[in-house]
Amino acid sequence: MKVRLGSRGTTNGSFDISIYAVCTRQTILLDIVHRNIFILTAGALIEEVESTTKTARIAVHTHIKGLGLTPEGVALPIASGLVGQEKAREACGVVVDLIKSKKMAGRALLLAGAPGTGKTALALGISQELGGKVPFCPMVGSEVYSSEVKKTEVLMENFRRAIGLRIKENKEVYEGEVTELTPEETENPLGGYGRTVSHVLVGLKTTKGGKQLRLDPSIYEGLQKEGVTVGDVIYIEANSGAVKRVGRSDAYSTEFDLEAEEYVPIPKGDVHKKKEIVQDVTLHDLDASNAKPQGGGDVMSMMAAMGKNKKTEITEKLRTEINKVVNRYIDQGVAELVPGVLFVDEVHMLDIECFTFLNRALESSLSPIVVFATNRGVCNIRGTDVLAPHGVPVDLLDRMLIVRTMPYSVEEMVQIMSIRAAVEGITVSEGGLTALGSIGARTSLRYAVQMLTPSSIIAKTTGRDEVAEEDVGEIDELFFDSKASARLLKDAEGYLK
Ligand SMILES: Nc1ncnc2c1ncn2[C@@H]1O[C@H](COP(=O)(O)OP(=O)(O)OP(=O)(O)O)[C@@H](O)[C@H]1O
Ligand SMILES: [Mg+2]
Repeated sequence: MKVRLGSRGTTNGSFDISIYAVCTRQTILLDIVHRNIFILTAGALIEEVESTTKTARIAVHTHIKGLGLTPEGVALPIASGLVGQEKAREACGVVVDLIKSKKMAGRALLLAGAPGTGKTALALGISQELGGKVPFCPMVGSEVYSSEVKKTEVLMENFRRAIGLRIKENKEVYEGEVTELTPEETENPLGGYGRTVSHVLVGLKTTKGGKQLRLDPSIYEGLQKEGVTVGDVIYIEANSGAVKRVGRSDAYSTEFDLEAEEYVPIPKGDVHKKKEIVQDVTLHDLDASNAKPQGGGDVMSMMAAMGKNKKTEITEKLRTEINKVVNRYIDQGVAELVPGVLFVDEVHMLDIECFTFLNRALESSLSPIVVFATNRGVCNIRGTDVLAPHGVPVDLLDRMLIVRTMPYSVEEMVQIMSIRAAVEGITVSEGGLTALGSIGARTSLRYAVQMLTPSSIIAKTTGRDEVAEEDVGEIDELFFDSKASARLLKDAEGYLK
């Protein structure tokens, strides 16, 4: 039975959702994109359940929004969620400029400092400053250890994920809103009872006029793959026949729809025209999509292969082939290289083989900027008995610029704490913040940040909305930080040894 269950405004009242659902006895849970979840029952009873998605998304680094630098590259004391650490932030700003100028490849930066001094936070700040168009590929040193894939293979893949390619092309396209979509069938020319699609009639409409196209059955497959229906805005590339669905025409924006649809205006100009199409891909996307060679060594057929999913292994030979094509297209000006950032956190987890590989990879012409981070001092290089600073061989260290992150002062801790409290939606009194700051100074920033939410729970149980000094004190007595716990263990008796 298909019934209309009703419509209701959402919390902000700015839109109205109507829901059609097939009724069964059970409760149907529909997750609607607009932040609200409705539970629908057979009796058409609608109950609003508060979504948890928004609160659950606050992660360790949620408050970091950038590097907080002035246009001249000077670090502001508190900006973009970052506090203090001025020198390291300015150094990261220089790296962002280097990446934006696109002239460099193969540079490496090492963020070194004690745990909890903001190395990972700074790397995320860099990625935020670069924006969505520049690839940023984060990985952790221990990711390279897999029983199936070679260590160097994992590294190479991540290197290539961090290099983007922007392909600009003036293409002849047919673009418009679909007004008609009729496949025409004929009898199978090879005999038998089946019928085949001989061609497909597609009507396209723009603000200027309309056109009816008679297309090859292979394009019909493309139309089906993109899920094109009447009322969608699409374009079809004239020479390759590739179909791209842009979105739903906004003339249909009032129709009831549970899916998140992107509504686009009806295209202007003629149906048949030249259009500049910009596509951003990474070298790894090209590798993966061409893992099974499809023939045709040009960028366009490489791009076209992206949608197909039958793959074989990515070999070194394939990568060399792709590099050749990419280099040719860069020389011709069709494509532009966008070197991004590969961020390797906990770099001391890599072993000597990986380090040797990195030396070579950094020197290749297609290399991103590599940012490493480590909290180790002098320790063994993994896989050897050799001691080295940061657990990184000196020859690789020699290729890096090293940025140090410094421990925070109490005032800086208090400021970070108040930023975190704001992000987590907790109000903390002055006294509470100072108490948290001094706990941070005694133990660590991370531990102090962890105490925010428990303190707010204690405050709530005593009927207050604001976290006061005594709540923090109470939590401090309930929990132990790592140092305190270690101290206790040292003189504890009765534990299993
Ligand atoms: N300068 C800062 N401003 C605001 N928040 C910060 C700052 N530095 C660190 N933080 C926050 O403190 C916490 C710990 O920092 P982070 O995880 O970056 O430390 P780390 O140096 O990577 O430590 P580790 O060596 O253990 O990996 C995170 O929640 C981070 O967002
Ligand atoms: Mg870290």
